Amino acid sequence: MNASASIEPFESVTSLQDAAIDAICNRILECAQQKDQVNISLSGGSTPKVIYGRLTQRDLPWDKIHLFWGDERNVPHDHDDSNFKMVKTVMLDHIEIPAANVHSVPVNVDDPKAAAEQYEQEMRDHFCGQENPQWDLTLLGMGDDAHTASLFPETTAIDASDRWFVENWVEKFDAFRYTLTAPAINSASEIWFLIAGAGKKGALAKVLSEDRQPALYPSQLIQPTRWFVTQDAIA
Ligand code: 6PG
Repeated sequence: MNASASIEPFESVTSLQDAAIDAICNRILECAQQKDQVNISLSGGSTPKVIYGRLTQRDLPWDKIHLFWGDERNVPHDHDDSNFKMVKTVMLDHIEIPAANVHSVPVNVDDPKAAAEQYEQEMRDHFCGQENPQWDLTLLGMGDDAHTASLFPETTAIDASDRWFVENWVEKFDAFRYTLTAPAINSASEIWFLIAGAGKKGALAKVLSEDRQPALYPSQLIQPTRWFVTQDAIA
């Protein structure tokens, strides 16, 4: 884990979101000046949802921005639990972005393995056979169980080092999830955690502790470059 990345404390989730929105816009504009594509891996969850919605009010080069999902639930895209539906509702329906730039997970409820393999191939094709996905920015949340993306404690995806994107059986949900693997997250040039709420305090303390047990605290697998954290989540 990148110990050098410092925690940036925020008084409230709103001030965290304000800062994250500006940082994301600056990152996008910086990359868009240098490249013809800006490749972003999105997080699910409630913390980034407001951020996605407010990005629609910014003047961004959506024709250059390629959106991928860092994780997804094994439900159709029109299901209320779908991370795609969340992003579509608050962001995609309010911006002009080429359909080819929106790389949603090809969910196959009955065959999540095939869907994960298909999505990984789409990523590999997009990144032209690179050894790892070259995200310009990966956004991540963290659960109160120290999971990130859909790398949940004591699940097989934690050890999937030879893959970029996998299906992951999560016992506590009695369901499959889809997730980037830790190496496919860590290959990003910027990796930002967005962590808000007192409910995350225990998990964050464990993740930052010397007690290195990534099987129990999967966020320890990640080498973040920035931590956006509300004060009440900091022990
Ligand atoms: C998901 C997310 C998940 C999320 C954390 C934190 O699909 O739910 O990818 O990893 O980031 O659970 O969620 P909150 O931001 O809602 O606390």
